[in-house]
Amino acid sequence: MTVTSKSSNTVWHHATVTRERRALLNEHKSVVLWFTGLSGSGKSTLAHALEERLYQMKYRTFVLDGDNVRHGLCGDLGFSDKAREENIRRVGEVAKLFMEAGIIVLTAFISPFRADRKKARDLIKEDFVEIYCECPLSVCEERDVKGLYKRARAGEIKEFTGISSPYESPETPELCIPTSEQSVDECVDQILEYLVQRGTYSRKT
Ligand SMILES: Nc1ncnc2c1ncn2[C@@H]1O[C@H](COP(=O)(O)OP(=O)(O)OP(=O)(O)O)[C@@H](O)[C@H]1O
Ligand SMILES: [Mg+2]
Repeated sequence: MTVTSKSSNTVWHHATVTRERRALLNEHKSVVLWFTGLSGSGKSTLAHALEERLYQMKYRTFVLDGDNVRHGLCGDLGFSDKAREENIRRVGEVAKLFMEAGIIVLTAFISPFRADRKKARDLIKEDFVEIYCECPLSVCEERDVKGLYKRARAGEIKEFTGISSPYESPETPELCIPTSEQSVDECVDQILEYLVQRGTYSRKT
């Protein structure tokens, strides 16, 4: 869905408290860490485990998680291709606002379509970090954390990613995390190492 702005006669009001000044106050930069992968690949687990580690090191963070935003912000959307597109568009916009507010944002959405992830990347620009939770469908299905694969196989859930709806894996993600081969701690370490190299954060402790 291409959103045509219906808000004419609006003028952007420039803040004096800029993103750069917020970074000075926080003593760290902001960024969007965009986790993508099949259901059960570990997006929520890693986003929250990483957030916990960052919090303990006094970084300001926020997780935008798929199921949670579907309770409110995106509660009016289903799972058709169009609805998924709109879901990710809204999440991209919200992630950008949090990033402008100086927060390290972690998003945990299947976000199955390359084109939709690209739109989020184009919006957020150089501070978009795509993290692919790489995990074979067979492992995700075996984990079946929410019991959804079983229901999808039984035909009870239509348009279920990996079963009856496609997942387009990233071609050049900033990070590829093999969640079926490494422990959660190893995965979190891998992401933290990347962030240090990137200069998003320096170890405070
Ligand atoms: N290295 C790992 N990283 C992440 N999760 C792992 C790892 N090893 C095992 N797991 C397990 O895999 C499961 C991942 O489930 P999780 O809910 O995080 O997936 P998800 O990608 O958020 O799925 P959904 O899209 O349905 O929300 C958890 O039960 C977690 O404990
Ligand atoms: Mg999840």
